[in-house]
Parts: sequence; C-alpha cells; structure tokens
Amino acid sequence: MSTTGLVVDRGLEGVVVGSTVLSNVEGQVGRLTYRGYDIDDLAPNASFEEIVHLLLHGHLPTADELESLKRELASRRALPEPLIAAMQSVPKTAWPMDVLRTIVSGLALFVPVNNKGEHVSDVHSAIELVAKMTTILAAWDRIRRGLDPIEPRADLSHAANFLYMRTGKVPSEIEEDAIDTYLVLLADHSFNASTFSARVTASTRADIYAAVTAALATLTGDLHGGAASASYNNLVAIGSPEKAEQFVRDELAKGNRIMGMGHREYRVRDPRAKHLEAIAKRLSDHVGNSKWYGIARELENASQKALQEAKPDRKIYANVDFYTAPVLADLGIPGDEFTALFACGRIAGWSAHILEQLHDNRLIRPQATYSGPPSGPFVPVEQRTAATVGA
Ligand code: COA
Repeated sequence: MSTTGLVVDRGLEGVVVGSTVLSNVEGQVGRLTYRGYDIDDLAPNASFEEIVHLLLHGHLPTADELESLKRELASRRALPEPLIAAMQSVPKTAWPMDVLRTIVSGLALFVPVNNKGEHVSDVHSAIELVAKMTTILAAWDRIRRGLDPIEPRADLSHAANFLYMRTGKVPSEIEEDAIDTYLVLLADHSFNASTFSARVTASTRADIYAAVTAALATLTGDLHGGAASASYNNLVAIGSPEKAEQFVRDELAKGNRIMGMGHREYRVRDPRAKHLEAIAKRLSDHVGNSKWYGIARELENASQKALQEAKPDRKIYANVDFYTAPVLADLGIPGDEFTALFACGRIAGWSAHILEQLHDNRLIRPQATYSGPPSGPFVPVEQRTAATVGA
C-alpha cells in the first residue's frame, strides 16, 4: 500500500533494514550459513563453543582459542546468590521463559558499571550471558520441582553441563551431542524478530542486558520461539502416529495453524529440520520406547500434504521448531521449557548482533503513515461531552 509516496509494508516482508556479516538465510534454496560456513557442515562437526567463538570473534577458534573460551565460559557459569533466592521466591507455576527474561534482566544489577556509570557491552559480557542463561534455566527447572539448584561443573562442555545441572547426572554422549547440535542450529538466523528487537534496543545505546531482555521478550510469542512448545503440545494431543492425519484435518478445519510448519523466509524445508530430525531419530532409538519421533514423522507428512493442497502457492514445510519437539521431549525436557532453551542457543547470535550494531551504530527509527482522525480543536475537560469526544 502506498500513501503520500510512502510504502507501507506490514510485517516488513522483503524489506531490507540493515546488513550483517553474521549469518545468511537463503530462503529459496534452504541454505543457512554462519559467517560463510554452511550449517550442514557446522551442525555435525562443530561444538556450540566453536560457534560462539565464530560469531563473537569473527573466526573459528584454534585449539588454544577454544580452550581459552571454554575456561572463560566455565568461570562465568555461577549465578549471583540473590538471583537464585529470587527464583526460589516466585510462584512455581511461573513460565520458564518469564523467569529467564526476568533473571537475565536482573543480571545487570550485579555487574559493575564503568566510570561513566554504564555497563560495558563487549565480548566478555556476551560470554557472560551465554554462560549464565543455561544455568538460570537449569536452576529454575529444579527449583520449580522443589529441588535445590546444582552448582555448574567447570570440566563439562556447555551442553553437558546444562544437562548435568538439571539432573545431577553426567549425560551420555548421545544426549550431550543432541543438545550441543541443537544449540549450534539455533545460534543465529539473521534479522529474525527477536534479533531485530535486540538490534533496535542496542541502537538506542541501551546496554547488552537491556537488548537481550528485549530479545527474550520478543522470542516468547508462538509465531516465533513459542512454536516448539506448541508443536510438542500437538504431539501430546495426537498421542499415536495413526491419529496425525485426522488431527491435521481437524486443526485446519478450525482455522488453526500447524505449529512448526511454515516460515517467513524458507520456501523449502528449513535446513535445520533435517539435522534435528536425524537427532530425533537417534534419540528415539536410544530411548527405546519413545513415541515422539514416530508421531512427528506422521504429523509432518500429513501437514505437508494438507497444506500443499490448501495453500499451493505458499510452500509450507517443516521449520526448526518442528523436530525440536521430539528431540527435547526425548531428553526429558518439559514442553514449557523449549522456548527458554531456544534462547540459550540464540543468545550467541543475539549478543553478536548487538556488538555488530554497536560497532557501526545508527538509531533504528522507521516511519509510519498516520491513519487517525484529522487534527481538531482541544476541548477542556469541563466542556467535554460525548459529542465533542466523538464517543
Ligand atoms: N499452518 C496453517 N496455515 C499456515 C501455516 C501453518 N503452519 N503457516 C502459514 N499458513 C497460511 C496462513 O494461514 C496464511 O493463509 P491465508 O493467506 O489464507 O491467511 C498463509 O499461509 C500465509 O501465512 P502468513 O502468516 O502470511 O505467512 P508468514 O510468512 O508470516 O508465515 C509463519 C510465517 C512462521 C508466521 C507461519 O508459517 C506460521 O504461523 N507458522 C506456525 C508457527 C511457527 O511454526 N512459527 C515458528 C517459525 S520458525
């Protein structure tokens, strides 16, 4: 739509609002790259720590650089005691994503300010956030189950330590790899809604804690990071693979969307879905009697078929959230923690985008056309009537 020469684009679809060297989403061919490296090469070969280094420092780490990053991450894992006490004092029914957003925002209270009274936003504060977010999520998982949080272990990888802090058991290699690859796959995705939100906030010169808090708030909705939990709820509601087709028919007849299907950028299957599907299958075999992968497979088939018939021009395929559901379910992670775990991966990208924005900053401030009433006279309150206010 065009009004007085301005183009209005609801949802900014196809509108270029900036440039980034961090990741590239090629929606037509289904390719995702981080700083030029294809996700298909990174997912099976690189650890989450290597991706954090790639995004924050600009190159894949040497062995020494990787060791140094691992040491820094490990040294920053523990939470300030008052924040653990704060988690212990909130209702156990609180949504993990609300807790994560609140405690991440609270981290700023414990970070010393510089001589200008500001928090420093740099690679180290970024690593601090990467290190602490999984600790917050694991601590809340235990606190809401009535258990004490478990201290992080410095000798474990980021992925293994997360699982360890939830259960107190060092995970198997398959479980560790599953979470590690999940975090790699979720680490960045160009100017998605939450990353854009982080960049808008950073562009005002707000600090990294404020910008990440804004990103966390933006991630919550089920058109973005909330979709994996919604997708898990679908698997639970379906119950067994042969019921998937009827479920899809019923959902579409009610005008509902099939969560985990469709993407603003991809016109083919999301490239991350195949890696998550492979992990879901491996975990399902590992667990033995898991039903989640089987239901997800049937749900994808049925959804793809029904959506191709219903929307032949739109090309709606599985996105990253679709196979996140069986992967995390088989790792014993409750469905309402999925969005928070998404954030624990995306923090790598968010923080790199915030630093990139600050490096060459210009306030992000778009325009809107005005579609309200024409200007009119102000009427003082004592003379106002229903007629003068247009009620
Ligand atoms: N199930 C059913 N219909 C869907 C659909 C889905 N998962 N995704 C898109 N559609 C339909 C819409 O209803 C719409 O139909 P209409 O033109 O008759 O109104 C059409 O396809 C286009 O949808 P639109 O919302 O304009 O496309 P978009 O580019 O904004 O969609 C999503 C992207 C992600 C918002 C959308 O696919 C969606 O809602 N998916 C489910 C939620 C999800 O998985 N989110 C995680 C994304 S990683």
